[in-house]
Amino acid sequence: MKSELYDTLNRQVLALFEGETDLIAAMANLSALLNEHLSEINWVGFYLAKNDELVLGPFQGKVACVRIPMGRGVCGTAAAENKIQRIADVHQFKGHIACDSASNSEIVIPVIQNDKVIAVLDIDSPNFSRFDEQDQNGLETIVESFEKCLFAQQMHKI
Ligand code: SME
Repeated sequence: MKSELYDTLNRQVLALFEGETDLIAAMANLSALLNEHLSEINWVGFYLAKNDELVLGPFQGKVACVRIPMGRGVCGTAAAENKIQRIADVHQFKGHIACDSASNSEIVIPVIQNDKVIAVLDIDSPNFSRFDEQDQNGLETIVESFEKCLFAQQMHKI
């Protein structure tokens, strides 16, 4: 069941990242964890907010576009509006940036520190409507746990 999957993943996130201070290493491992356990996905990873654009971070999947202007595409919209984007059909999303032509649905979750979007977690699927409300809630909780583990000590540098 999905809720059990997300509960298990959330416990793993808390165990894996508790006390970790290196953001890139943690993002690399969270991408790997999600890639291993989520079915029907073809890309999962991070874009980091740097100087009014998003720059590719740790990920699992095919080669992707390196820079996305803030406000552009699904990722840029999530970052600019600080709002989760759950898109059932990316081809209907105005300005969608197609990195992998196999992608048909997508979810993007902002990563927040001190009320600012410092990155986004992006997950793509070859299925239409791959992500439902349970996925959204589960992934939101995982990103919140990730933020708490990583940023509790305010020691990291991007
Ligand atoms: N589709 C995204 C771009 C990033 S790739 O999917 C990895 C977007 O529209 O922002």
